[in-house]
Amino acid sequence: MTEPILRRVERYYTGKFTQHGATPRGVDWNSVESQALRFEQVLKVCDTSRPFRLLDYGCGYGALLDHVRARGFDCEYVGFDLSAPMLDHARDTHPRDAAARFVGEAEALEPVDYVVASGILNVRQDVPVDDWRAYVLSVIGRLGALGTRGFSFNSLTSYSDADRMRPDLYYPDPCDLFDHCKREHSRNVALLHDYGLYEFTILVRKDV
Ligand SMILES: C[S@@+](CC[C@H](N)C(=O)[O-])C[C@H]1O[C@@H](n2cnc3c(N)ncnc32)[C@H](O)[C@@H]1O
Repeated sequence: MTEPILRRVERYYTGKFTQHGATPRGVDWNSVESQALRFEQVLKVCDTSRPFRLLDYGCGYGALLDHVRARGFDCEYVGFDLSAPMLDHARDTHPRDAAARFVGEAEALEPVDYVVASGILNVRQDVPVDDWRAYVLSVIGRLGALGTRGFSFNSLTSYSDADRMRPDLYYPDPCDLFDHCKREHSRNVALLHDYGLYEFTILVRKDV
């Protein structure tokens, strides 16, 4: 493996965006419906009854911002992504939202109330499985460091049908990541594996 993981991930998603534009396919999802269903799961970590600050880690072209505004949530939004063309598009299409911004520098990120990450752990490509697992745990550690009240993420699942699994994607055991989050991040962890996709969402609450 010659190229660092983040560079490979960035190249993969920028390629998808160049090919398909600001559509679910452009961030490697199949449909608007499944993209929104994932948003609904990761947002379950947020207490939306009062204002909050939200970091969308791996924001793509900013579809989650439209989703939270449509839902009427009172939140300050920061979108973070590795892909410069995605961020350019996100900024261009949300010019008037004074409570939202998009950043590309990991060093510029500051702790917020909640961090959500939809779709950032899946595309292993040819990175060895052990290396990818270590990368996944380090990303989860970063989500945990930045979300003072909690964080959430989704992942493909090892409970997928074997004949549907792709060799370039990562299908961890949800129980393994649940256990990791419980031991390393909070006593209050939820595993959602009941929303009809070949994946799961983990919610880690720190303020219960
Ligand atoms: C599957 S797409 C989903 C985009 C968005 N969350 C959505 O659901 O519409 C994953 C996005 O996460 C970004 N990404 C993947 N790994 C990342 C990382 N470690 N740090 C920041 N962004 C990342 C990719 O560039 C891509 O835009």
